Amino acid sequence: MITRGKHAEIRLYEKQIRIFKTYKDSLYVDNEHFALSFLASQKIMNLHPKKESAHTISMDWIKETIQPDISNYKTRGHLRSQLSAYLKELHQLSFEKYGQYITHEDIFPDNVLKCCNTDKLIIIDWGLSKKRDNVYPDFASIIMGIFNEYPEDAAELITEYSGNLSNIDCELILRYVYELYEEYKNIRKSNNVEIKSLDSRLKQAINILNLLSG
Ligand SMILES: Nc1ncnc2c1ncn2[C@@H]1O[C@H](COP(=O)(O)OP(=O)(O)OP(=O)(O)O)[C@@H](O)[C@H]1O
Ligand SMILES: [Mg+2]
Repeated sequence: MITRGKHAEIRLYEKQIRIFKTYKDSLYVDNEHFALSFLASQKIMNLHPKKESAHTISMDWIKETIQPDISNYKTRGHLRSQLSAYLKELHQLSFEKYGQYITHEDIFPDNVLKCCNTDKLIIIDWGLSKKRDNVYPDFASIIMGIFNEYPEDAAELITEYSGNLSNIDCELILRYVYELYEEYKNIRKSNNVEIKSLDSRLKQAINILNLLSG
């Protein structure tokens, strides 16, 4: 085992080519496998996912990745545009195929990588992904996660995505923020990971949504 996340054990096999991720709850394997298979089928991102067993999924390990530096204004701006385009493509294509949107719902900094060779985004950790009737759970996840400390970027991303902030239902996003907060808290509790930081994230998310609703 090389690392232990909040969720899963990560192992490297076969000369560090594939990673095997084992979840206690098989639901997360199904979610992750479904989303990664869809991304591969649409040529958005192909990690060659394989369900090894009820509790284990394997995928390609992308060796040359960096975590984008979100503390840097320029890097963050670039990431924001890439993230918005990535989600838009995923949402549009999944809606065309299923009449529902595949959402990631765990868009935290450590789940967003960049391939050093291609500059492409690699979004990992799809265990919490779902099929939804709207895309707001992903906005909620961005506000709770990657742009929690950056309200202007959260606002800008939603504007870039949707064209106009005035069409956005902030109360509905807030409902998903609470839903995600509960989900994150339960997962962290069952994996003995601290939950205190989620409370400050929730407070900050509420501030961001107040700012958005102007
Ligand atoms: N396909 C991959 N290619 C390269 N690195 C990866 C890949 N999958 C996972 N990683 C690395 O392993 C870490 C943990 O993986 P992942 O986020 O999927 O598991 P997790 O147990 O759910 O973690 P956490 O709950 O802490 O976010 C990632 O943050 C990333 O650094
Ligand atoms: Mg993760």
